[in-house]
Amino acid sequence: MNDSDAVAIIGAGTMGWQIALQLASYGTPIRLYDRDPSVVDTALGRIREHGASLAAEGLLPQRAADLGDLVSGVETLAAAVDGCWYVIEAIPERMDLKRELFVELSRMTGPETILATNSSSFKSRHLADVTVHPERLMNSHYYNVPWRRSGLELMTCGVTDGKHMERVAALARRSGLVPVVAEAESTGFVFNRVWHAVKRESLKVVAEGVASAEDVDRLWCLSMEAAIGPFAMMDRVGLDVVLDIERHYAEQSGEPNDAPPQLLIEMVARGELGRKSGRGFYTYPSPAWERPGWPRT
Ligand SMILES: NC(=O)c1ccc[n+]([C@@H]2O[C@H](COP(=O)([O-])OP(=O)(O)OC[C@H]3O[C@@H](n4cnc5c(N)ncnc54)[C@H](O)[C@@H]3O)[C@@H](O)[C@H]2O)c1
Repeated sequence: MNDSDAVAIIGAGTMGWQIALQLASYGTPIRLYDRDPSVVDTALGRIREHGASLAAEGLLPQRAADLGDLVSGVETLAAAVDGCWYVIEAIPERMDLKRELFVELSRMTGPETILATNSSSFKSRHLADVTVHPERLMNSHYYNVPWRRSGLELMTCGVTDGKHMERVAALARRSGLVPVVAEAESTGFVFNRVWHAVKRESLKVVAEGVASAEDVDRLWCLSMEAAIGPFAMMDRVGLDVVLDIERHYAEQSGEPNDAPPQLLIEMVARGELGRKSGRGFYTYPSPAWERPGWPRT
């Protein structure tokens, strides 16, 4: 590997550092940038800490325990993308912010640099008109905790060159991930559409007072042979991110049934954002679903 293999990740929050850790553990040099420099420092610390524990658990290759200078935090967007072949945008799920960033990325990169959004729901088509050379634009959607949830969804912006999709798929295959290409453009791609329906109905069950979040998760785990349920997963994603995503689905469909429930809006307004704030549908660091015996306890 040399630096021309470098990949840039823009946004070092929940997803940025995780994608960096996954790809670097399999040998890809990473440049990590966030407009808040303190987030990059925190991200580098998390990469060190989790890299060591995930290597010890066997969930990432041994290299993850000491990535040396494979992941560098950088201070400017220009330094992040310079010489990189693939740029992964992982900034908040807000199209206005993403569009501003893609104007800058287009200006700073050549026509062969792949520009990809990690958006959870937006089609990359919405970025095509602000991207010079949209044939290098695509969705590449990594999952939260990619070392356990190893799918990578790829989707065209409508005019993406197939050679770029294949190059990103090849990187995924050699980085412990399983690429799946959406065969038609779709808001939420493949899995997140299914997940949207699960989230919507789970939130309604709780908002209508039919059952507690914990009981919904308990039944989910027992019925689906799963380790965690929808509310534990939403806490892990971040309830602010979930709210932005649900609002986007509601705008797209125009269906009143898709509108996020007041319950979620109020939790976010109170700063209850899930694991990252210490409180969401569960309290952390010891949520009920991490108790021994869950979901039967
Ligand atoms: N959280 C999840 O579980 C998850 C899973 C898959 C996909 N996603 C998607 O990934 C993207 C990122 O989500 P997240 O949860 O990591 O968000 P986050 O809020 O944790 O992190 C976003 C980071 O982007 C930074 N940022 C904002 N504007 C920027 C800019 N112009 N340039 C550089 N940095 C900027 C912020 O300072 C912040 O640190 C979103 O589109 C989200 O929908 C999230």
